[in-house]
This record gives sequence, structure tokens and C-alpha cells, in this order.
Amino acid sequence: MADGIERSLGFYVHVPFCASRCGYCDFNTYTAAELGNDVSTISRDSWVDYALSEVSIARRRMADDARAVSSVFVGGGTPTQVPAAHLVRVLERIGEEFGLAAGAEITTEANPDSTTAEYLEEIRAGGFTRISLGHQSSAASVLKVLERTHTPGRTWETVAAAKAAGFEHVNVDLIYSTPGETDADLRQTLDEVLASGVNHVSAYSLIVEDGTRLAAQVRRGELPMPDDDVAAARYEMIDSALTAAGMPWYELSNWAKPGGQCQHNIGYWRNHDWWGVGPGAHSHVGGIRWWNQKHPATWARAVVAGDAAGLMAGSEVPDAAAVALETVMLGVRMREGLPLHSLDSTAQAALTDLVARGLIEPLALIDPLVVLTLAGRLMADAVVRELTA
Ligand SMILES: C[S@@+](CC[C@H](N)C(=O)[O-])C[C@H]1O[C@@H](n2cnc3c(N)ncnc32)[C@H](O)[C@@H]1O
Ligand code: SF4
Repeated sequence: MADGIERSLGFYVHVPFCASRCGYCDFNTYTAAELGNDVSTISRDSWVDYALSEVSIARRRMADDARAVSSVFVGGGTPTQVPAAHLVRVLERIGEEFGLAAGAEITTEANPDSTTAEYLEEIRAGGFTRISLGHQSSAASVLKVLERTHTPGRTWETVAAAKAAGFEHVNVDLIYSTPGETDADLRQTLDEVLASGVNHVSAYSLIVEDGTRLAAQVRRGELPMPDDDVAAARYEMIDSALTAAGMPWYELSNWAKPGGQCQHNIGYWRNHDWWGVGPGAHSHVGGIRWWNQKHPATWARAVVAGDAAGLMAGSEVPDAAAVALETVMLGVRMREGLPLHSLDSTAQAALTDLVARGLIEPLALIDPLVVLTLAGRLMADAVVRELTA
């Protein structure tokens, strides 16, 4: 590499199907009704053929790249909407074409209510090492506002089934500061998370995305906008409960037991390389970023044409300034810190003030690393703005 950084190579694989759409979600995913009966579009059965072909396109495009794959992350949508054998076939194809590095981390997301013990056993036997479940909350009233289809207890049955199938690494996603959520609801959620024995938690404050049913409910006054102060207090509750239980933060929205950190996502935050397979998937290889055709049918047609350029809906080559900005934005999100040499001299001058205001750990003035304090994590965007002004 020209900059001397040895970058790992990962694969992200996008499964664009959901049984129903949660009211808050604007991910690139489709229900059967949204895809319709158009025979030209892809189905839960045919998705795998196109995904396999895109892996082969990736191999041709990266013909000179000798790196084995360090991590694979199957996300969605709901990966468990397609048969377990299909997820395994895609993983096998990645292994055949690129080779999997020793100890490669292989994750799939899964919805608690569409994942069975047999499914988990099949993908574990097929090489998957990590499961990520969208739990969101243990309060039935909160799940109702979020329009989730699972009951809270279903997540814990699925976690137990994942462990019985041999998964050592299990994550649950949480959403906090949903309108109507109380401190007691979150406390119960955290108690259940800790009792379940998962080794990783991702927690996101509810974002009201344009164009979602949630946004329409807020606009009509049926639900209040999530409150920033409540969100900050809830973040502190999550951080304190997880830290006390031996799961410290390692990225702003992620906490893990030792050894449980998600290597694939760390690759994103360190600006390493990954190829995104599937409709709308983003890639970053060799300093180029691109994103695939968004609609499943358009993506499938481009895959059949077999041409990497036709797969791309857009691309960019970030210049040095954009790369530097991104390095700061991603680096300060991580507990391991941002090396001071990534900052220009103006930013280094702003550090003393940020330390005095309690937003950056004082060690930054001695140790060449910028690490956010808890107060800094709550204002991470503002810190980045000051460091990059
Ligand atoms: C692709 S989904 C996870 C897998 C699976 N589809 C599920 O929902 O169980 C990724 C995660 O993003 C988070 N998420 C999605 N939309 C969000 C929003 N508007 N605000 C906050 N978190 C959101 C949820 O925690 C969700 O579990
Ligand atoms: S199940 Fe997951 S991907 Fe599907 S709509 Fe809900 S949050 Fe979005």
C-alpha cells in the first residue's frame, strides 16, 4: 500500500428481504408485497445465484489481490429470510475465490422471530462464527411503537439456541429513547441482556428517518420526537450497566466483553477494504468507494451482465482532505483512540481546550492518542467539528 498501511479485506453481503418493515427503518429492504410478483425481480430463492455471481465478479475485478478474507458480515434486511444453505453457499464461494484467513470472523444478522435452532446449527456447521440479533427492547410497549414483530422473550430463546449450536459470539442490537420508553423499561432491557450472556451489544438512539412511518407519525403529532436529553441519559445508563458487567465500550455505539469486539466493523472504522455484495451494498477497495445499484431487480440485471462497472450506481475517489476528515470522524469514535499525528496543527491546538472542557481524556496531552470522555462521547459530532474546523 502506498501509505504503508496493511489493510484487511472483508466482505459485506446484503440480503434485501424482510417479512414486514419496522416503522422506523429506512434500510434497503423489501417485503414480498413491495417486490410484487414481477418475474423479472429477484426472490428469496433466486437471490443466492446473483450473490454467488457477484463474488466471482469481485474475484475477476481483484485478480491481482492476494489477500485472504478476514471477515464476512451478512446483513440486511433479514438474512434469515433466505435458506441457511444459501448463506453457507455464499460463504463457501468467498472462501473458494479468495480464501478465508485463519480465524476469520463470519457474522450474520438475524431477526429473533425468524431464526430457528436448525437454522443456527446449519450455518454454524457451515462456518459462521457470530450472530447479531435485533432485540431493540425488552418492553412490549416499546416494541409495539417500533412495530417489531417479536416478543421480548423470543430473543433470549434465540440467544440460547445460538449458544447451544456452538456460537461463542452473540450480539444484540438495542434501540433507546423510543417515545414512551421509561428508565424502568431500559433497566429491564439491560438486566435481560446481561442475564442472557451475550458478549456484544450495539445500542442506537432512535433516529427518525425521512420517509418512514415513524416520521409520518411524528409529523402528525401522534408521537413526540425522541428527546436529546433523554437519549443522553439513556446512553449513560447503558454505558454504566455494561461497563460494570465487564463489557466496556470500544466504539461509540458498541460494547463487548474482552475478545468479543466485531472485527468486521473495526475494519470499517479503520478504513480498511471491503467488497459489498448485493443491492445497494457499499464497497471500499484500493482507495475507491462505490455503491451498487439499489433495487434488487436492477442489481440482478447488472450481475447477469457480468460487468463490475454496470453494478455501480456511483463511485468516488476521496481526495487526501476527504480521507483525513474521515480518519478523524471514524478514529474518534473508537476507544483505542485517534493517533495525534492524524490531526493537523490547528486541531492539535484545539485539543487543550477540548481537554479543559472534559470532552477528551487528559492523557491526550501526554500520550499521542485522542480518546473521548463519556461527556465527549455524548457530543462526538461537535468534537469532530472542532477538530476538523
Ligand atoms: C439490519 S437491522 C438488524 C437485523 C434485523 N433486520 C433486525 O432488525 O432484527 C440493523 C439494526 O439497525 C438499527 N436501526 C435501524 N434503523 C434504525 C433507526 N432508525 N434508529 C436507530 N436504530 C436503527 C436496529 O437496531 C437494527 O437492529
Ligand atoms: S427487520 Fe431489521 S432491516 Fe427489516 S425493517 Fe426491521 S429493522 Fe429494518
